[in-house]
Amino acid sequence: MTNKKDLVANVRTDLEKSVTLKEIEDLKVKYLGKKGAITKLLKTLGSLPPDDRKQAGIEIHTAKSQIDVLFSRRLEDITSNLIDEKIRKGTVDVTLPARSSGLKGSSHPIQLTLEKIIDIFCRLGFECQSGPEIEDEFHNFEALNISEHHPARAMHDTFYLSNNKLLRTHTSPVQIRYMKTNTPPFAMIAPGKVYRCDYDQTHTPMFHQVEGLFIGENTNLSNLKGLVAQFLKVYFNSCELKMRFRPSYFPFTEPSLEIDIKLPSKYGVESWLEVMGCGMVHPNVLKNGNIDPEKFSGFAFGMGVERLCMLEHGISDLRQFFTNDLNFLNQF
Ligand code: DAH
Repeated sequence: MTNKKDLVANVRTDLEKSVTLKEIEDLKVKYLGKKGAITKLLKTLGSLPPDDRKQAGIEIHTAKSQIDVLFSRRLEDITSNLIDEKIRKGTVDVTLPARSSGLKGSSHPIQLTLEKIIDIFCRLGFECQSGPEIEDEFHNFEALNISEHHPARAMHDTFYLSNNKLLRTHTSPVQIRYMKTNTPPFAMIAPGKVYRCDYDQTHTPMFHQVEGLFIGENTNLSNLKGLVAQFLKVYFNSCELKMRFRPSYFPFTEPSLEIDIKLPSKYGVESWLEVMGCGMVHPNVLKNGNIDPEKFSGFAFGMGVERLCMLEHGISDLRQFFTNDLNFLNQF
């Protein structure tokens, strides 16, 4: 009969030689299987004199436990070696070209519209600026000549935050920030997101505007009209675009205008459509931007990006821009 100590030693040597999981499995059968060495030893118990059986049984079980431990340790070693090897061999070559999903991404229509507007103004010499979306009451209202009890405040459906902060309701506050840090003459636009607590077919709580500001000496209303007309003709790619400058009211401009356009016939719309607000910058606003209204004058304008995009592409529901429906987006 094999000595139990020899048996454990044999298992140890066999295991050290084995490198694959299959080899381990075979050894398990050899030593621990139904016809394996341990089973054979157990079967010999019956033939031993009764007084020796107990001691022999204990020894066999001790040997079995030791063998079990040897197996699980070797198994652990081999598995971790295999994992190491897999990691070593399986390094990812990040320079390989990606597999194509067949789906092509594209810019969102609002992004395309923004880029188009920015491109036109940059070619006209305007600088592109940005400002914070979390604003304070001073920049969003007061500095723009909208005092605390001014009815215009109520029209803005503002999202108020704590500590006198709010989500900007328009991009006009960037005017103030820009005036404070720049000396005229200058021309800038400020595209960006704005927020109002409103939701229906023509309103969403977040939308985009582009603000424009031009300050110089002797700037007048005809400069404003000329610039805006030039922009709209280029935007809608039409020299025949009809425009109407309507008197209006904004606290931050005096006089104030709203601009309506009549699209060329290819757009299939007959009526006048409002596209932007504008006007000569109010002297109070210039003062709040540390600019001397005696020396400088200028004009400002503000337009809704979604609105321009809707007119250009004949989109009737503003909410379509924000539902991420691929059937809609794939058209751009
Ligand atoms: N801030 C205005 C709004 O959100 C838009 C606007 C109108 C901006 C006239 C201007 C302006 O700069 O002169 O409705």
